[in-house]
Amino acid sequence: MKSCYDFLVIGSGIAGLTYALKASEHGSVCVVTKGTEDESNTKYAQGGVAAVWDFSEDSYHQHIADTLDAGDGLCRRKVVELVVQEGPERVRELIAWGARFDKNAAGEYDLGREGGHSVPRVLHHKDQTGYELERVLLKQASRRPNIRLLTHHFAIDLLTQHHLGVNVTRRTRDITCFGAYVLNTRTMRIHTVRARLTLVATGGAGQVYRNTTNPLIATGDGIAMVYRAKGRVENMEFYQFHPTALFDPGRNPAFLISEAVRGFGAVLRTRDGKEFMHRYDRRGSLAPRDIVARAIDNEMKKRGDEYVYLDCRHLNLRQFIKHFPTIYKECLAAGFHVARDLIPVVPAAHYLCGGIKTDVYGQTSIRNLYACGECASTGLHGANRLASNSLLEALVFSHRAYLHAADRVRTVPVPQGLPDWNAEGTLNPEERVLITFTRQEVQNIMSNYVGIVRSNLRLQRALQRLELIYRETEALYQRTVVSVELCELRNLINVAYLIIRSSLLRKESRGLNYNLDYPYKKKVARSTVL
Ligand code: FAD
Ligand code: SIN
Repeated sequence: MKSCYDFLVIGSGIAGLTYALKASEHGSVCVVTKGTEDESNTKYAQGGVAAVWDFSEDSYHQHIADTLDAGDGLCRRKVVELVVQEGPERVRELIAWGARFDKNAAGEYDLGREGGHSVPRVLHHKDQTGYELERVLLKQASRRPNIRLLTHHFAIDLLTQHHLGVNVTRRTRDITCFGAYVLNTRTMRIHTVRARLTLVATGGAGQVYRNTTNPLIATGDGIAMVYRAKGRVENMEFYQFHPTALFDPGRNPAFLISEAVRGFGAVLRTRDGKEFMHRYDRRGSLAPRDIVARAIDNEMKKRGDEYVYLDCRHLNLRQFIKHFPTIYKECLAAGFHVARDLIPVVPAAHYLCGGIKTDVYGQTSIRNLYACGECASTGLHGANRLASNSLLEALVFSHRAYLHAADRVRTVPVPQGLPDWNAEGTLNPEERVLITFTRQEVQNIMSNYVGIVRSNLRLQRALQRLELIYRETEALYQRTVVSVELCELRNLINVAYLIIRSSLLRKESRGLNYNLDYPYKKKVARSTVL
């Protein structure tokens, strides 16, 4: 395998692929991805991409205001403005590459509505927007000879001067990235992939919780890698729970019922059939996600119920099937006909609003290292993301990171002298099943103590439990041959630690971080940086 590139991209979701397509005009690109080429959070995106499209009904001002309102005082205004204003151009680029967004009978783009949006502004492809976007981006990538896409290649750690024998700490200035150690999961060989510039686009970390809409690969690898390399992460306490995943205990990932279904007119009811959202917010079932998920959690706890209902029975069935064919089929397969039955739903971990801290060009605190997409914290989402702003953010920031990277790639020297992976003294694991058990333990700790409603006692308890697991797992890692399962477990433990630490540092309830010990918001909103 060739081991030196101009651009190394870790991840083949919307962020990694968009950047790779553009960067390939300026040099050689290697995209590594740990599973199949399309496995990603992107592939499962349902609702769509939020962008100001119809200027007669919508405006940048309104999209900015909705994003700031959802973010509960913690968004970086400058970032919100640039994402909203540059977004439509990035969406037009996708259309030019071949993305098919649904149109109405008049031939105009059919804009969906979701929670927290004051007007319909979500471009979508039925309820399979992400699948369509991955299709288009991968097709484009296959046409670029400069892009090498390596599936089943797992990035283990970033290469920095630590690997040249320098003692790197969080205080070290000018920590520099030289590429990554990458495990070919078919041959089990570890490659030293050097690059002038590296992009981390590894997506979310939903698997840190027991019930999540994220696929099994969403284990926060990029965030853990950057933290281990002593880079900065921020706002990790803001884990967004989507209000409506199909209630189906044990199913991993949980099946999402898009917020666009509520935008289409579906309403939430308790098990006795009563509407309840108007008691929590004037926007009812279409309030921002933090509010709706907390209201559901509260109703379930108060009543001792395991789920609430989503009522679609009054909606036009033909139109429903046209807009939401996958949701219709999945509900039917689970035994629920949307026109006759109430659909049992529960909140599920869905989106990490914090992550690797970046500037407006996707630059991290580590030189020659960029991050974008869900693993990054750009300042757009603040304490709670507005629906369908994630795909938009990935598009805008992968473009900005590309602009910055293309400008400097020729000025960055080719990294030299990096040692190969040292596996000396490691053995095959005695009992692989222990790794599976520990992953479940982490998910249970996070779900039981670090969920939608938190308290200092619960957070402390979670931290103590996690510390023991951390020590056991590090000891195992030192003496064991590297495997994806073990690396993912380490990364999940790392991410869980960052979520708990950040949540403990935040002495207030804001957005997605609701703590019973601080039922109020502080006057000044600040980020938690670790
Ligand atoms: P991903 O798409 O998750 O891609 C990450 C990539 O990194 C994958 O290819 C993965 O294999 C790879 N990777 C990870 N770790 C490693 C490693 N160690 N080594 C090598 N490769 C690695 N957002 C919206 O805006 N609108 C929606 O309608 C919407 N619906 C959603 C529905 C669902 C069910 C889910 C789960 C999310 C939804 N989201 C939506 C959120 C949105 O899809 C994601 O935030 C976004 O797609 C993330 O894109 P990404 O490129 O950052 O990461
Ligand atoms: C959904 O379709 O409800 C998910 C949208 C999002 O996560 O932004």
